[in-house]
Amino acid sequence: MFLLLKKVPYLPSSKEQTVNVMKHLSGRSGRLADLGSGDGRLVFAASSAGFQCTGFEINSILVAYARAKAQWTGLPSSQANFVKTDFWKTDLSSYNNVTAFLAPGAMDVLGDKLLKELPDGAFLVSCRFPVPHWTPQSSIGSGLDQTWAYDISAVRASLKKSTEST
Ligand SMILES: C[S@@+](CC[C@H](N)C(=O)[O-])C[C@H]1O[C@@H](n2cnc3c(N)ncnc32)[C@H](O)[C@@H]1O
Repeated sequence: MFLLLKKVPYLPSSKEQTVNVMKHLSGRSGRLADLGSGDGRLVFAASSAGFQCTGFEINSILVAYARAKAQWTGLPSSQANFVKTDFWKTDLSSYNNVTAFLAPGAMDVLGDKLLKELPDGAFLVSCRFPVPHWTPQSSIGSGLDQTWAYDISAVRASLKKSTEST
């Protein structure tokens, strides 16, 4: 059951969704992990905004495509790196920005993982599916292109407060 919830199909971000993600990331910098990077489109958008990006992807064809595109466009791996890895098995503690376009059933489990691993001050942008029980800092768009941004320190504080008051 747990494995089934974490299953995520390939579906590329729309242009509008990508623009929304980049609006959330405006003013931020540093290391960014895209969880399930597909053909690399979110990584390419974020790397052109100055982030040092890693795309984690389990589909080897998509990883090969994204690596080839990075090479054609002359992007150094320090700016856009693609690794064929299961992000559920990866420690994300060195990232201060995370983007995720996954599946509804994966979001609760993802929230628990990120609360355990991400440093204070880190930031999550989730596409199409929000993290249940987390209060977003902001949301952009609607329908299939809606995106949510979460400040991990604020989420930790609000979850702590709601636990203390129950
Ligand atoms: C909905 S697509 C999003 C692709 C891309 N981020 C985008 O926005 O266009 C989700 C991607 O996650 C990948 N994926 C699913 N489970 C994964 C896992 N455990 N580790 C790494 N990648 C995974 C899928 O292969 C798919 O490419």
